[in-house]
Amino acid sequence: MPSSRRTDGVLELGSVSLADVARDPRFGTPAYVYDLDGIAAEADELKSAFDDAPHLVAYAVKANSAGPIVKTLAGRGCGADVVSGAELLLAVACGVPAAQIVFSGVAKTDGELDLAIGVEDSGLGAIQVESVEELPRIAARAAALGRVARVSLRINPAVDVGELDTHSYIATGHDEAKFGVPLASVTDALARIEGDRHLRLVGVGAHVGSQLTSTDGYATSASAVFAFARELRPRFELTFVDAGGGFGIDYGEGCPVRPADFIRRTRKLQKEMGLDDLALYCEPGRSLVGAHGVLVASVIQRKIAEPRRWIMIDAGMNDLMRPALYQARHRIVAVEQAEGTPTRAYRVVGPVCESSDDFGVHELPDMPDARARELREVAILDAGAYGYSMASRYNGRALPAEVFLRGGKVVTSTPRSSPDDWVQDRLRAPLA
Ligand code: LLP
Repeated sequence: MPSSRRTDGVLELGSVSLADVARDPRFGTPAYVYDLDGIAAEADELKSAFDDAPHLVAYAVKANSAGPIVKTLAGRGCGADVVSGAELLLAVACGVPAAQIVFSGVAKTDGELDLAIGVEDSGLGAIQVESVEELPRIAARAAALGRVARVSLRINPAVDVGELDTHSYIATGHDEAKFGVPLASVTDALARIEGDRHLRLVGVGAHVGSQLTSTDGYATSASAVFAFARELRPRFELTFVDAGGGFGIDYGEGCPVRPADFIRRTRKLQKEMGLDDLALYCEPGRSLVGAHGVLVASVIQRKIAEPRRWIMIDAGMNDLMRPALYQARHRIVAVEQAEGTPTRAYRVVGPVCESSDDFGVHELPDMPDARARELREVAILDAGAYGYSMASRYNGRALPAEVFLRGGKVVTSTPRSSPDDWVQDRLRAPLA
């Protein structure tokens, strides 16, 4: 469900001309541009796959933590999956009820546990436990605060990496990953929870990986979670089962399944296992926001050394690190391109002093061409997830601008950070 299309040669997102956004002096480039309506529609489509059964779409805030996005999703009834105290505070500030927040992560600090256990009257929906060793730490913090901590066991179902069909860096549910309680430790974990009056087990879950383009590995993992939940029911008052996130999107090579397909298949399994009275949780990040954000960059110059041809842009791996980190490919297109413009292959690179600051080879207007205007800006597509949230200020570079669209217009924005901000930051530790 991509939100971008071309009208009269100009690329638009959410019906707004990206040429206008790129040239608006209020923002500057590089700029992330997001279509909030597309994100809201994505949430609605996913929620409708639950057919009114009890559920929670816990948005994985790490994918994109921009306030307007988290608020939009909260407004569509989504909860949040957070992985730090800061993300927890942000979710609450964006209006997500504490009871609809789950807290994942393999190494939560005592300070973060205190936040989770102490937030609002209820405390958090659940702290997702990822090791046996974490349990006495959670119990101690709950005891110190005079509360009972709700926990869910994130099991590591040891799904084969091959079955997951994704990059090894983002496969998390195989038996060498640091994530989740290994099946061999589950009995120990349960005994500890049962024996501690400050802990209450409310759910069981798993998250096996990201950018899954088939429902098979997800279904295998969900079956393991459901089988486990069934075993536990006589002993514990579970309220939910959590099948995790990871729904893939189409980065240009196709994605045969929609997020709702994962949920329909999982719901069917849940019913077959007789667990229909439990709420089904999922934790999508990428699929809610990825296709509804683009990174617009200005072309700085070309460099031609036949047979090599580069287009150098003002966005780099610090703005979007997925290509450098995972060899990920994002489509790159001209913001303005009249029909019939001749194109040729260019390697698109950023300004950062690293060879991996490279967005790959893309067909772009051949410049200069008598019929085509000089290429001024390009758009890196499907950059709404894990773009800004992984950005850094490496090389003294600015953080990119963020521009939010709704109802066919810009509704809010933050400008690119300034070079001076960075200089001041680096001078924060005074040394005469
Ligand atoms: N739940 C847990 C426990 C997770 O670890 C993750 C992602 C999610 C949910 C959300 O997964 P999603 O629906 O977004 O696939 N930076 C990488 C992706 C890392 C994902 C980490 N965990 C990338 O750019 O591809």
